[in-house]
Amino acid sequence: MREIQVGLGARAYPLIIREGALASVGSDLKERAIAKRYVVVADEHVNGLYGESLLANLGQAGLGAELLTFPRGEASKNLATVGELASRLARLGIDRKDGLIALGGGVTGDLTGFLAAVYMRGIPFIQVPTTLLAQVDSSVGGKTGVDIPEGKNLVGAFYQPRAVYIDPQVLLSLPAGEMLNGLAEVIKYGVIYDRPFFDLLAARREDILRRDLGVLEEVIARCCEIKAAVVAADEREADLRRILNFGHTLGHAVEAASGYGLAHGLAVAIGMVAAAELAVGMGLLARTEAEHLREVVTAYGLPSTIPAGLEPPFIKGFLKTDKKTVGGRPFFVLPTKLGAVTITDQVGEGLIDQVIARLKGK
Ligand code: GLY
Repeated sequence: MREIQVGLGARAYPLIIREGALASVGSDLKERAIAKRYVVVADEHVNGLYGESLLANLGQAGLGAELLTFPRGEASKNLATVGELASRLARLGIDRKDGLIALGGGVTGDLTGFLAAVYMRGIPFIQVPTTLLAQVDSSVGGKTGVDIPEGKNLVGAFYQPRAVYIDPQVLLSLPAGEMLNGLAEVIKYGVIYDRPFFDLLAARREDILRRDLGVLEEVIARCCEIKAAVVAADEREADLRRILNFGHTLGHAVEAASGYGLAHGLAVAIGMVAAAELAVGMGLLARTEAEHLREVVTAYGLPSTIPAGLEPPFIKGFLKTDKKTVGGRPFFVLPTKLGAVTITDQVGEGLIDQVIARLKGK
């Protein structure tokens, strides 16, 4: 069992990481006395896996418990779903003394967090992430929001949860593609912040891929420690928090160009390799370091090249409309060695073209 604090003063909260944590959410929440009654929000798939046991667990702890579900998938992460869920909360008589529990992956966490931020101008919420991606990234740090037709996550709020329960055991039933999705973000933490952690990921790859729960708990905890430290220093992404976008500048462009057919983590993997190439091109990173990153990325089964059919001008079009582009200049997070990064908007267009062309294998 590990407990990591996200140090945000009066809004500080714990990340509770433990095999079996899901089974003790009720008793732990009872002790923390955050709310009397909880509404669990889950998509229909995750509800089928864990909804009933979580409700029973809350009930056994003497906490009131209700359940709201919505259809699985990114298509549900919109204002219409928020409106629908808010009406259902109102009909249940939910008020500011009650709380929400987001049970699921990133879509559920983002949607439920945003609902909690705006329902009655803010009610408490708890994160219970059930994917690796959500456990190491989206459930920590208070970025909540929904998509609109003009773009992903364009409507949202910084709104911190009151506690996050992370149970590595739920990863045993996660599809392999979903594991890979999260592993790209895991590798990201090593590159931006912690060389020994990167080395551990390289050395323990087989144990991680066969989902050894001991090593997974250690890996998740280190990612959460890094994310907690970064968020505590810069909650609203004025400065340091931008390092968490390593691999996301070109990654997002490739993801968007694929019509979101390419999973986020796979796009981030390509984006990390691209960022390392840009860093080599700018004389910031040794070629051997970039090669080592590529080796680790591909050893995990993550992609390091841009999929066929995505043409460079199309990808570059998405670079221009990204949230990370200000005044027409995209900012990039570039490694200066494995374990440290710098942020720059001074990457030449010619170099970007060269790297995109190289990653397309031309
Ligand atoms: N996923 C990036 C962040 O939370 O800032």
